[in-house]
Amino acid sequence: MNTILVGLQWGDEGKGKLIDILAKDSDYIVRYQGGNNAGHTVVVNGKSYIFHLIPSGILHKDKICLIGNGVVIDPEALLQEIAALKKEKIGYQGRLKISSQAHVIFPYHKILDSLRESKRHLRIGTTGRGIGPCYADKVARCGIRICDLFNRKLFTQKLKDNLAEKNEIFRKVFHHKGFTFGALYAHYVSYARKLKPLVCNAPLFLAEAQEKGKAILFEGAQGSFLDIDFGTYPFVTSSSATSGGACIGTGVPPTKMERVVGVVKAYTTRVGEGPFVTEFKPSLNAIIREKGREFGSTTGRPRRCGWFDSVMARFSCIINGVSEMAVMKLDVLDELRTIKICTAYTYKGKRFSEFPYDLEVLTKAKPVYEELAGWQRNISNVRYYAKLPVNARRYLDRLQELLKTKISYISVGSKREETIVR
Ligand code: GDP
Ligand code: IMO
Ligand code: MG
Repeated sequence: MNTILVGLQWGDEGKGKLIDILAKDSDYIVRYQGGNNAGHTVVVNGKSYIFHLIPSGILHKDKICLIGNGVVIDPEALLQEIAALKKEKIGYQGRLKISSQAHVIFPYHKILDSLRESKRHLRIGTTGRGIGPCYADKVARCGIRICDLFNRKLFTQKLKDNLAEKNEIFRKVFHHKGFTFGALYAHYVSYARKLKPLVCNAPLFLAEAQEKGKAILFEGAQGSFLDIDFGTYPFVTSSSATSGGACIGTGVPPTKMERVVGVVKAYTTRVGEGPFVTEFKPSLNAIIREKGREFGSTTGRPRRCGWFDSVMARFSCIINGVSEMAVMKLDVLDELRTIKICTAYTYKGKRFSEFPYDLEVLTKAKPVYEELAGWQRNISNVRYYAKLPVNARRYLDRLQELLKTKISYISVGSKREETIVR
């Protein structure tokens, strides 16, 4: 069974934890977009691991983990993650693979990312990892792929062309000294040498896996509202973070996809700038941030928190073709007396039950809430749906009804075992 796991909000829904759980029943775990802007947390035996580029299934010793062509790879960051695996004695040889067609992040992408941000009126609040500029080069057809690093002549030409153009921009627009060819070239040739044993022709590698009847789990990064097309543009990332991205970003065709698991948090969070209709007032924000430890897994930035927005999540279910859902971090709501769900927005006397794309509406709209009673009990020890407090079940049932999608997994803590499977 091929499964796509996708975030339905603004990222950090708890995808890492669920990937680790679903990996048990998969043979291959494949990242298809994003880069080391992602931070996916897995907590096993009291130890917390945060994966940025390496698929979150890597802790399962017999699973193949692949980074697809849709991912942008910062080789320095990847090698650091590999070094961390070695330090933890997590064997990866022979089972960590990268697509030869993935695009490569260079230092000029990272610097450009922050310089552009510093000049913008509409600051995005990026992670500063060079993600946007690298994808921009890919689309502009001046990007450098993993396979290009192994062809000295081609790599030299491409890097020289890029530097000639980018250094002009660095100097004239940003008053930055730019980059010299020699040092960059030498570093990247050395990275390429270290990564070479992992590189494969990924689409064919995955096609062979399917011929053998292997189950592939596609690990989405970010979330649907950070998607370049369907997100709250321009406050988005630069890749296709929705389920469709899994085909584009791996070469596995749509006819082979069988199941889409959508992941939501029991409330909503967002890191960086952009509209957020259900954002809490500072006092409640502080309580939930503290209880949910809502600080970015990649940048450590405090996350903005708010009530569950069913207008957004319903739209996500539609565009991702979600077949079942996972609700994460339900335990974070344990102490609340009442819990709200946003069911529509209002702006200038108009009611929006469907997600509106107009940035003005999104920025200024007021949420319409339904209020449910909280359960005010610690649920982190609960392992069966029927054992959840009745008000917790009412909350989940209502989400299911509003999103018209079945909830199959409920997470009540960060550890592997703190999970209810229905
Ligand atoms: P991802 O980017 O979607 O993989 O999510 P992150 O790892 O960035 O953020 C999710 C955070 O919530 C991590 O610190 C997880 O360990 C934690 N977490 C995941 N599920 C639960 C849960 O059910 N309850 C609580 N309290 N924490 C959880
Ligand atoms: P995971 O996979 C949450 C956000 C950034 C910023 C916007 C653009 O852990 O859920 P970028 O650096 O991608 O150009 O930043 O996207 N962002 C994320 N927010 N979780 C993520 O990944 C994110 N990856 C990027 O904060 O608002
Ligand atoms: Mg994250």
